[in-house]
Amino acid sequence: MISKKDRLFNLSTKKTTYLFAITETGHLEHLYYGRYLSKETISIDALAEKRSISIGTGTAYDSDHPTLFFTNLCMEYSTMGKGDYRESSVDISYSRGMQTLDFIVKSYRILPGKPRTFSGLPESYGDKSTCTTLEVMLKETCLPLRLALTYTVFEDSNVITRRATLYNDSTEEVTIKNLASAQLDLDTDDWKLVTFDGAWSRERYMHERPLAPGIMINDSKSGVSSADHNPCIFLTKENGETIGMNLIYSSNHRELVETSPYGKVRVLTGINPATFSWVLAPQDRFQTPEAILTYSPDALNGASQNFHHFINNHIIRGPWKFRERPVLINNWEATYFKFTEDKLINLAKESANLGIELFVLDDGWFGLRNDDTTSLGDWTVNPKKLPSGLENLSLEVHRLGMMFGLWVEPEMVSIESQLYKKHPDWMVAIPGRRPSVGRNQYILDLTRPDVRDYLFKQLSDVWHFANVNYIKWDMNRVFSDMYSTNREMKDHGEFFHRYILGLYELLEKLTAAFPNVLFESCASGGNRFDLGMLCYMPQTWTSDNTDALSRLYIQEGTSCGYPLSTMGSHVSDSPNHQTLRRTDLESRFNIAAFGVLGYELDVTKLKGQQKDAIKAQIAFYKAHRALLQYGTFTRVKLANSTSNQVVWAVASQDKSELLVLFAQKLNPSNPGSDKLRVEIVDLNAVYEVFPRQQRIDIKMFGNLLNQVSPLPITEGGIAQDTISKAVTLDSEVEHYRVTGEQVAWAGIKLNQQFGGTGYDAMTRVLGDFGSRIYIFKKIK
Ligand code: GLA
Repeated sequence: MISKKDRLFNLSTKKTTYLFAITETGHLEHLYYGRYLSKETISIDALAEKRSISIGTGTAYDSDHPTLFFTNLCMEYSTMGKGDYRESSVDISYSRGMQTLDFIVKSYRILPGKPRTFSGLPESYGDKSTCTTLEVMLKETCLPLRLALTYTVFEDSNVITRRATLYNDSTEEVTIKNLASAQLDLDTDDWKLVTFDGAWSRERYMHERPLAPGIMINDSKSGVSSADHNPCIFLTKENGETIGMNLIYSSNHRELVETSPYGKVRVLTGINPATFSWVLAPQDRFQTPEAILTYSPDALNGASQNFHHFINNHIIRGPWKFRERPVLINNWEATYFKFTEDKLINLAKESANLGIELFVLDDGWFGLRNDDTTSLGDWTVNPKKLPSGLENLSLEVHRLGMMFGLWVEPEMVSIESQLYKKHPDWMVAIPGRRPSVGRNQYILDLTRPDVRDYLFKQLSDVWHFANVNYIKWDMNRVFSDMYSTNREMKDHGEFFHRYILGLYELLEKLTAAFPNVLFESCASGGNRFDLGMLCYMPQTWTSDNTDALSRLYIQEGTSCGYPLSTMGSHVSDSPNHQTLRRTDLESRFNIAAFGVLGYELDVTKLKGQQKDAIKAQIAFYKAHRALLQYGTFTRVKLANSTSNQVVWAVASQDKSELLVLFAQKLNPSNPGSDKLRVEIVDLNAVYEVFPRQQRIDIKMFGNLLNQVSPLPITEGGIAQDTISKAVTLDSEVEHYRVTGEQVAWAGIKLNQQFGGTGYDAMTRVLGDFGSRIYIFKKIK
């Protein structure tokens, strides 16, 4: 890993190389992050910054090194006050506000595997067969401070993780104002920045923009990783080269991208300094969250696939790792708060008939909760709604052969609750100031051990007696009035980090106490979809928005950073409850199938045709679930483009089977031809290709039916309804035998779409928001 002669650090994975070297002054110069370079061929001379003459108005490191200008050097970790005028990685205030720092290398060590953190933060894991760790220890030139930069190299995933640890060896407190998890300096500025932004019900829409001089910030300040700006970012080049970064952290983060006047780019990721400060006691140390980095020459898809591999192998843990996730039914959009025991049991019975494997009881089962104004904090069953108790409901569900799941929102308290009456001081609020409110609720102070103990006891009691197999852990408001009576907190700037450490500690204990339970995290949908939560909970509720069209954007953006096995995706009612859009049941399924499938609608009200369709969907999903959850996923045509079409493909490891989604935003009139061209196939194989059979409601044709019907059929009339209930059209007949090479390079021209001029058994009738799943099976 290290060449002594050259003072070069070479961190190589199977397909990537990351290089940095120690300068003559003991600083770390970043040299390269890109395609794999074989070790024999590396010339530091070629990679190092040339500096034989000085820079105008620049500040040289010292008079012995008059041409060493940090501001035009790619560095591993930069400080303030020594001539680098870009954003620095570390900002500490000592001795009445001094900020200048200068760290130089003191020692380094290489460790097999990955030593566990002491920080209380979740982290990736691996043993010596999968990863190696390098720790470079730096020492401040004048102060008793040390800084360790830790790199763990995960060869198979092509991922490097990084974190920084600051040691206060002095006898005085220092205040940390910023400590980045990773800094990555790049020597050209021809990159585009890709971020995933949005809000409630439109999470992680992909945005791309070219870099420009100055600073771009992608961050959150609301106390969660947020739907506003996910911590996962990418830098991509025209030629396909892509660098991805993400953070194993669920609270306020900041990714800063700075383009310098010299055409260099600095990327910093870590805890958001805007909402952070930390008093580091003498002899104490502070470790940052872990950042993950990847590089791929194969554009966003290549970088995403590296992240997917890494997350499935080194973030997700416990018995659900690589285990096929159950198809669930969630009663939320079926009933909201209005349910009875009978209603739930009927829902469960019908779900079992359809082939659903897990019944989830959502909000409204506890305290006096009939709407969202009360009872958060009182985790005991509402006897009026469930007179036979949760145990009985769970028993009934288990009797039906299904798993039983329960919704909780433990981090919250309602003013109207027993808990608030007893412990008003447990609520996050500033004494003497009226607290702000979100969804009628307030946050519990999880920095306090007594609050965490209460929650552990309450939750584990309920989960034990209700015999739960699954927990949906929700979090429906973000922070305001940050304050804590916790005495450990020396500065209010510590609040957010201490809160998240408190949450992580509670999750650590609960997941250890319930090792077989499948946890799904949720924060008003996807307001906390991040690697921190995924360390405890292998799946996340992607968005409250289950509209088929919106989901193309939401799942597309989410899939850039996170594998399909982590994305909860439900088929819900039409018109959709978030957008009022009407979409076809089959399309809702086709899109939800590219994730962890669930249903969230009143299945007791389905018509016969719909039941048959859902049964077939679930059977199809189960038959292909390993592929749909753990296959190699690629986005072929982006929703986030001017294209009317969206194409996603998922391939088995050996590429013997693929499922390809073809979806369209709107129905084109007088359409041209649609072509399916997918490159992640086995080029030497021969495939059979055909669409999943799906049902076409004859109502799609409206009055046109009269052209073929002997009897008059009025649009919206009883006759049309009756026929629609009794008859569905089969989807088109289409079948190919085709070589992988042809699929990849030439593509398949699909049957004609309906265009108003005729219809036969070959016609593809898709309509607005319509879609198909094509099955590719290798036959030779
Ligand atoms: C949030 C979740 C929903 C549902 C409701 C219940 O909005 O995202 O899925 O659980 O809370 O109140």
